Amino acid sequence: MSAEILLSVSGLHKAFGGLIAVNQMQFDVHKGEILGLLGPNGSGKTTVMNLISGALPPNEGKVVLAGRDITSLPAHTISHAGIARTFQLVRILPDLDCIENIEAGLAFRPGPLWGDAAKLAARALLDRIGLADHAHTPAGDLTYIDQKRLELGRALALQPKLLLLDEWLAGLNPSELQEGIALVRKLKSEGLTIIMVEHVMDAIRSLCDRCVVMNTGTKIADGTPETVLADPEVIRAYLGDAHA
Ligand SMILES: Nc1ncnc2c1ncn2[C@@H]1O[C@H](COP(=O)(O)OP(=O)(O)OP(=O)(O)O)[C@@H](O)[C@H]1O
Ligand SMILES: [Mg+2]
Repeated sequence: MSAEILLSVSGLHKAFGGLIAVNQMQFDVHKGEILGLLGPNGSGKTTVMNLISGALPPNEGKVVLAGRDITSLPAHTISHAGIARTFQLVRILPDLDCIENIEAGLAFRPGPLWGDAAKLAARALLDRIGLADHAHTPAGDLTYIDQKRLELGRALALQPKLLLLDEWLAGLNPSELQEGIALVRKLKSEGLTIIMVEHVMDAIRSLCDRCVVMNTGTKIADGTPETVLADPEVIRAYLGDAHA
C-alpha cells in the first residue's frame, strides 16, 4: 500500500522573461518521506521551492497540499497551511538571541504564542535542534552550523507538515555534516515530511527515500537515490554542467 500523498505538484511552469526556469514539473511527496530535489546549478530547484512556498507565483500549474489547492496563495497563507522553509543563504536575525529568534517564528504560526508560553516553547525547540546551551547567544555570534540549526528552528516553530530545506547541509565540514544528517533524520522520525534540495551525495544517499532530478527546468529522473544517481541522463546532466 502506498503512503498518503501530502503534496502534489503538476504542470508547474515558471519563466523569467525568455528563460524557462521550471518547465512542466510534476511530482508527488508522500507523507513522512524525504524527497531529494537534485540537479546541476541553475536547473530550477530553488525556483520550485519558491513556487511551492508562495515566494513566487507560477505561470501555469498546480500545487496541492493535503487535498487543498494552494497555488499562488500568498506566502503567509501557505505557511499557515503547513509549509515552512529554510533559505539557500541563511536568514536569521543576527542581533537577537536564539530564544528571540525562535519567538519571532512562534508569533507567526497559526495559534501564535507570546510571553511565557512562547519562551517555554522556544526553549523546547532549542533543545530539539541542539541549541539548548545557546538560549541567550546572539544569533550573529553562532557558528555556521548553529546558525543553520537556528534557521531550522524558526521553520519548525511554524509547526509545518512539510519542511522545505534548500541546501541546508551545504558548507558544513565533515563532522558538522554528520550532525546535520542526524538532525534531519530525527525530524523524519518525528513524522515530518521533507523536500530537500541538496548537492551533498552522502546526505542524499543516507537521507532521501526518493529523488526527483531536474535539468534546465525539466524533470529528468524520479526514483530511489541509487536508481537516479546511476541514471546515464543524470550523470550526463551533472558532468555536462561541470564541463560547461
Ligand atoms: N528572480 C529571478 N529572476 C530571473 N531569473 C531567475 C530568478 N530566479 C532564478 N532565476 C534563473 O532561473 C534559473 C533557475 O534558478 P534556480 O535558482 O531555481 O536554480 P537552482 O537549481 O536552485 O541552482 P543552484 O544549484 O545554483 O542553487 C537560473 O537560470 C536562474 O538564473
Ligand atoms: Mg538553488
